[in-house]
Amino acid sequence: MPEIAFVNGKFLPLAEAVVSVEDRGFQFADGVYEVLASYGGRPFALEPHFQRLEHSLQALRIGLDIHAYGLEGIVREGIVRSGFAETLVYIQITRGTAPRHHEFPAGLIQPTVVMTVKELCRPAPELYQRGVKVVSTPDLRWKRCDIKSTSLLANILSKQQAVEAGAFEALLVDEEGRVTEGSSTSAFCVRQGVLSTAPAGPHILPSITRGVILNLAKALKLPVREEFATLEEYRQADEVFLAGTTTEAMPIVHLDEHPVADGKPGPLARRLREAFLEYVAHGDW
Ligand code: PDD
Repeated sequence: MPEIAFVNGKFLPLAEAVVSVEDRGFQFADGVYEVLASYGGRPFALEPHFQRLEHSLQALRIGLDIHAYGLEGIVREGIVRSGFAETLVYIQITRGTAPRHHEFPAGLIQPTVVMTVKELCRPAPELYQRGVKVVSTPDLRWKRCDIKSTSLLANILSKQQAVEAGAFEALLVDEEGRVTEGSSTSAFCVRQGVLSTAPAGPHILPSITRGVILNLAKALKLPVREEFATLEEYRQADEVFLAGTTTEAMPIVHLDEHPVADGKPGPLARRLREAFLEYVAHGDW
């Protein structure tokens, strides 16, 4: 099956896809992106992903109307062309190509639109059964984490630190000692039966999976609070788990030097994972 790309209006094999070295995405990370899964040939939660993409584009003042551009049709065509039953679709839109000056180029330039479609590799079932280890790292990101910007240096350095420590993910901790999210995931904890996750705002990416999990938790009548918890509270929590497009809902059983609770995936994380799988299989998305 082919891994395919789309660059500025054309589908082509991934290996042949190129953009200019003067693209502002390459020079300045002056661009935004989305990552979404498709299951059974259908893009998952396309509408919220597109709303977030529009939010990111507006925040950076990149003037591309994704509907007029026909992005939905392009995503659907890419999924069909790839032939994979489950795919990971990556979309990147940059301000475009121009001589390198920090300020926006004078006059109109055409934003660069890139997409790749690859087979979705879902984490191994054993990881969900056993749970994973995470390490905490300082959240060194800028103050607009709600924008899904391609500028991910702080995220990748944290993730690398986690991988070098034999961990699955890094939990990011802000200057006030609060857990914001993972380097490429949302973070949840359960304390005294209450599920909590950092509130939407500039500190976190408004994760689509986070939204799905919150809705599923409310449908299951679980008490939910969108409020910060500190690293210390995460350490003392009854359960901790991650959520994200590629991660789904992943229990954390080890945080830094210590097990979380009894070191086994907790009941709410397991229930929410089952509800998530059921939603992917039969939900109305
Ligand atoms: N990352 N938080 C951050 C910082 C992220 O980068 C992501 C997603 C999430 C989860 O968001 P969602 O549920 O919409 O996937 C939370 C993607 C997968 C990535 O960068 O590859």
